[in-house]
Formats: sequence, structure tokens, C-alpha cells
Amino acid sequence: MRKIIFVTGNAHKIKEAVFILSQRGITVEQNNCGYPELQEDELEKIAAYGAEWAANKLGSEVMVDDSGMFIRALGGFPGPYSAYVFDTLGNERILKLMEGETDRKAVFRCVIGYCIPGEKARLFTGEVDGEISLVGRGDAGFGYDPIFAVGGRTFGEMGDDEKNRLSHRYRALLKFAEWLNEGKENYIN
Ligand code: IMP
Repeated sequence: MRKIIFVTGNAHKIKEAVFILSQRGITVEQNNCGYPELQEDELEKIAAYGAEWAANKLGSEVMVDDSGMFIRALGGFPGPYSAYVFDTLGNERILKLMEGETDRKAVFRCVIGYCIPGEKARLFTGEVDGEISLVGRGDAGFGYDPIFAVGGRTFGEMGDDEKNRLSHRYRALLKFAEWLNEGKENYIN
């Protein structure tokens, strides 16, 4: 099994990464050392900086995950500021901002940054189109899961199995796993 250190304080992200990567011959180990989160306007820059910083600090290869939800009617808000907005406004106030809005389209994006000490980060992106629900539904998952719906069901209403077969994180991790396993035949799908 290939082992990879995932630098994050988010236990939900770890659980999803273990679910997705273990089926592809990759073991995930959590490291909680943290890294400076740049206030940047692109997830890619935040993930690259974090991966490079953490790889150099730990002296080993690492992965990080930076994700964001982009609401079309709000000009892409909260996007790269999703963590700050979730902590300050939360789902109920986002639903309030969307009250009366008929364009409910949104995109969830995930950028996985992978880095070897002393090198530049490599990035793997995944995104999924969805809609902001009218009310929060379901208590599975974390963060924006109760208000982000794909095919009429929110991530909060989906089991791990369902979310992890179509999510932004799944799509980014799949590319990452394929790249890590390149030339090998030890992954499924
Ligand atoms: P970050 O990637 O930890 O910066 O996440 C940005 C914000 O989006 C945080 O508030 C997370 O809780 C939230 N978030 C990240 N990934 C997901 C997800 O898969 N579902 C719902 N919310 C998420």
C-alpha cells in the first residue's frame, strides 16, 4: 500500500479521503500540523502554498485539500472564502441571502495539492454542479452539505457511499490516485 500524509484538521475530509483512496491502494494518514491559509482569490494558490509549506515543515510528501462553494447568483460567493463565510454566516444566513432567488445554481470545487519537500506542488482539481436548496436538508456530512444539492438530494441527505461517488472531492482524489498509481494496475475503476 502507498501511504500519503494528509495535512488537515478536518476529520470529515479524512474520512472521505480514506473511503476513496483506500479502494485505490493508497493509505491515508492524518497530520494536524496546520499551515497558513492564504486569503487568495483562487483555491489553487491556497492549496499550492499550503502543500509546499507543510511538505517543507514535515520533511515528507504531503497532500492538502482546499475546497469552496461558488454560488452563481451571488457572483461566485463565497468561493475561496468559504471557510470564513461558513464560520461567520453559516448555512441559515446563506439561505437568507438566496431568498426569492430563482437561479439556485452553484458549483463545489476541490483542489488537492500534493508536494514533495523542496519541489513545487502538483494540483488536482474536481468540481460538481449543484443547486442551493431552499431549506437545509439532511444531517450527514459537514459544512455546506445540508444546502448543496445534486440531482435533487443534498449532500446532507446522502450516505458516504453516494456523496463519495460524485463529489468534487471524489473527482479531485480520483485524478490524484490515478496519477500516483500511474503505470500500476492496483486501482479499481
Ligand atoms: P476548506 O477547504 O476547509 O477551506 O473548506 C471551505 C469551507 O467549505 C469550510 O467551511 C468547509 O466546511 C466547507 N466544505 C469543504 N468541503 C466541503 C464538502 O465536501 N461539503 C460541504 N462543505 C464543505
